[in-house]
Amino acid sequence: MIILGIESSCDETAAALVSDERKILGQALLSQKEHIAFGGVVPEIAARSHLEHIDAIVDAACLQAGVKLDEIDAVAAASGPGLIGGVVVGVMAAKAIALALNKPFIAVNHLEGHALCARLTNDVDYPYLLLLVSGGHCQILIVKDVGQYERLGTTIDDAAGEAFDKVSKMLGLGYPGGPLIEKAALSGDENRFDLPRPLIFSGDCNLSFSGLKTAVRRIVENYAKNGDISHVQIPQQDVCDIAASFQKALTDCLIKKLQKAVKIFKSKYPQGKHIVVSGGVAANSYLRRKLENVAKKENLLFAAPPVRFCTDNGVMIAWAGLERFQKGYVSTLDFKPRPRWPLDENAPKAAGAGGVKA
Ligand code: KG4
Ligand code: ZN
Repeated sequence: MIILGIESSCDETAAALVSDERKILGQALLSQKEHIAFGGVVPEIAARSHLEHIDAIVDAACLQAGVKLDEIDAVAAASGPGLIGGVVVGVMAAKAIALALNKPFIAVNHLEGHALCARLTNDVDYPYLLLLVSGGHCQILIVKDVGQYERLGTTIDDAAGEAFDKVSKMLGLGYPGGPLIEKAALSGDENRFDLPRPLIFSGDCNLSFSGLKTAVRRIVENYAKNGDISHVQIPQQDVCDIAASFQKALTDCLIKKLQKAVKIFKSKYPQGKHIVVSGGVAANSYLRRKLENVAKKENLLFAAPPVRFCTDNGVMIAWAGLERFQKGYVSTLDFKPRPRWPLDENAPKAAGAGGVKA
């Protein structure tokens, strides 16, 4: 069985073919560089770029796989949540292929792509505890099965990646912020700045990064004339120290809430074996190390997709599509792309929620 997956929900145009033998047959990905100058993704520019490149990206993935489009079994597309202009481009491309070649179309929740990717790259069985940390989302979930998610906690304001990106911008490091903060932090003193850990004593699994971001802003303002931080000059060592202190504070929050979630997970699912991290921020080695330690202490296994599959890619969409297809969950061609689509609402049998039973 071969599934084509298409991803276009943010600033990566990507396609991949995966097989039910857990093989990645071919993949192509274009990371849009047009947004760097703006310090963040510009939705209209993203949508135009997806439109321009989507056909070539699908062709490149098929060519690498040595598979013709009419040899695939189904086509999946990230159908939300995300920047709707881009999502529409990917969904229309997938529906056109499905219609022209008479293949099933599978609407995949982009978050489900992140959530299930570790089952392709690592040996992970259901149920598992998932920390999903990306540019738009930050959630702790129990993954019970395809389409069956129990959300234990979520951010009440910024996503983790969003916080990395905003702090990076304040420090003049650039976009995307995560890798740049991580690199700067390597030369920094993580104990130099005492930053807040919002909600750390809230007793639930929710997270908040807005206060942490504001605390960094206050520090940056100290280096600026008249409080204008748009052209602030910060000594390089201080940039590294702020980056390291911020990365530590944010990671502490994630770890604390994950430990809380582990208790719930263990009591509900004593047979569960894995803690999984996924999404763009899961590319962060500092966070991965800390999570690995938590797993060890809790007698659980730790799994994370390779770094290149943490950020958005076509492979994760193809894989989630494949898991759906194997269960018989396909979508109808009138499926409307969804700018918002909570993962825990994603019941496979609910028509219009990404799946109707074939
Ligand atoms: O999953 P993703 O590619 O797109 C969304 O679905 O949002 O995640 C992108 C986010 C960006 O905010 C980026 O700064 C962050 O992931 N990111 C990182 C790292 N690499 C990417 N954050 C921290 N450390 C990294 N190494
Ligand atoms: Zn993503």
